[in-house]
Amino acid sequence: MKPHLDSLPPDMISLDDYARLSRQFIEPATWEWLQGGSGQLQALKANETAFSRHAIYNRVLVDMKHGTTRSHLAGLDLAHPIALAPVGYHRLVHDQGEVATARGALDTLMVVSTMASVAIEEIAAAAAGPLWFQLYMQPHRDDTLHLLRRAETAGCQAIVVTLDTPVQPASHAAHKAGFVLPPHIDAVHLRENGPPPPVALSAHGRALFQAMMAQAPTRTDLEWLRDATALPLIAKGISHPGDAAELLAMGYDGIVVSNHGGRALDSAPAPLTMLPAVRSELGPDAVILFDGGVRTGSDVFKAIALGANAVLIGRPQLHALAVAGSLGVAHMLKLLREELELVMALAGTPTIADITRSTLVETDYPG
Ligand code: FNR
Repeated sequence: MKPHLDSLPPDMISLDDYARLSRQFIEPATWEWLQGGSGQLQALKANETAFSRHAIYNRVLVDMKHGTTRSHLAGLDLAHPIALAPVGYHRLVHDQGEVATARGALDTLMVVSTMASVAIEEIAAAAAGPLWFQLYMQPHRDDTLHLLRRAETAGCQAIVVTLDTPVQPASHAAHKAGFVLPPHIDAVHLRENGPPPPVALSAHGRALFQAMMAQAPTRTDLEWLRDATALPLIAKGISHPGDAAELLAMGYDGIVVSNHGGRALDSAPAPLTMLPAVRSELGPDAVILFDGGVRTGSDVFKAIALGANAVLIGRPQLHALAVAGSLGVAHMLKLLREELELVMALAGTPTIADITRSTLVETDYPG
């Protein structure tokens, strides 16, 4: 594979450019793992097309002199509402992995995955912006508690517990490409875990339904988790307004409307489609993040207009990391933030709070 660039070609002007160029820097089977989705890719495709159902009014009579992307999110004061989603195994595309990503996340919130390939303590030492920790609840509560304490001690400012993948469906393309983790890369946070409970297998070697779900977090586990940390606790992977409301009633501080980038339930609704219903169920003050298919400033704008306080971006951070390491991540974020500023300027919305539902009109742009 090509070595990472240490300066940026002048024609790198959008996230699509990073996606296109990154193919030359990523092993083919790893590329399939990164880009892939579950099943027939219905959720993945829905994420991409959902944005084209909305257009943004251009407005001409607004005083834009004091425009700003400044945002508030669960106690954080952020320069902009774009954050890095939790994505596992950054060392698959860069030797320094999450440390290099964190160095490039200037002024940007990064959510570090349980499945990180570098320890949270090392990431925290390198981070240019605030960190949150994404938690996968472990089969043994002691192991979950140990992860929480490490994240708290490292200075993470919130916990994001991911709930949409108690089982993770395989990507057909990654499977066919023979993707496996190389021996020198692993989920370092899980090294010290006790052995997982045995899973019963069918004659075809598949986990039986009941055995498979025996390890999925229950409502009791989620109540226990709420009491286990004093940090803000945010549930990720929510699409149903009823689930969102119940989690808030249980004391959760916010939710991420997400279908795991089309990697969990195939046929899950596009999270953009669900945002208005979730916002209207939870009310104006609830903390709602969004992810799935955000690639442009107008995508960020539309998600905020439909009810999100902030957006997370997944795959593009690994595209940028593969192309040019920390420099690539910083540049990719700068491009996206500047695109958002441009859209806000043309839409006549000087602040993030001005980006409301009334800035959009339903459209029939082709998907
Ligand atoms: C993910 N995602 C994810 N989510 C999570 O909670 N923990 C994790 O470890 C991972 N790992 C992961 C790996 C890869 C390769 C991808 C593409 C995604 C999901 C991620 O946080 C986010 O929900 C989606 O990536 C958002 O969609 P986009 O921006 O990739 O379209």
